[in-house]
Amino acid sequence: MALLLSACDIPNEPLVYPDADSSAAQLYQAKCARCHNAPQPHAHTAQAWPAILQRMQMRMKTKGATPLNKNELSEVLDYLQRHAAPVELK
Ligand code: HEC
Repeated sequence: MALLLSACDIPNEPLVYPDADSSAAQLYQAKCARCHNAPQPHAHTAQAWPAILQRMQMRMKTKGATPLNKNELSEVLDYLQRHAAPVELK
């Protein structure tokens, strides 16, 4: 889990997401912070997010959690891609 907090994050700083009040940001936090802190959208590129979401859908299924439905998935993906990193850092 510690890996999700990038080295430059200040510990204990509250996580603030872009457009935090938008329904997409709320949905993102509700769905993606159940097993770990929801990573910042800029933690990955727009190209990288679809594969990550697919992996998380699998994880939710294996854990018996309800995966995102089609609409939720596209809303979350759209949100992540709008605020994604320009280049992958890893
Ligand atoms: C059912 C539990 C669960 C849910 C819900 C979940 N994840 Fe994860 N996630 C995991 C696990 C387990 C790992 C692996 C942790 C580790 O690195 O050891 C992980 C790791 C990650 C990682 C970093 C490693 C990687 O695979 O790239 C990202 C990014 C991530 N999750 C994004 C998301 C997003 C976005 C959502 C919402 C769609 C989400 N997660 C919802 C369980 C979950």
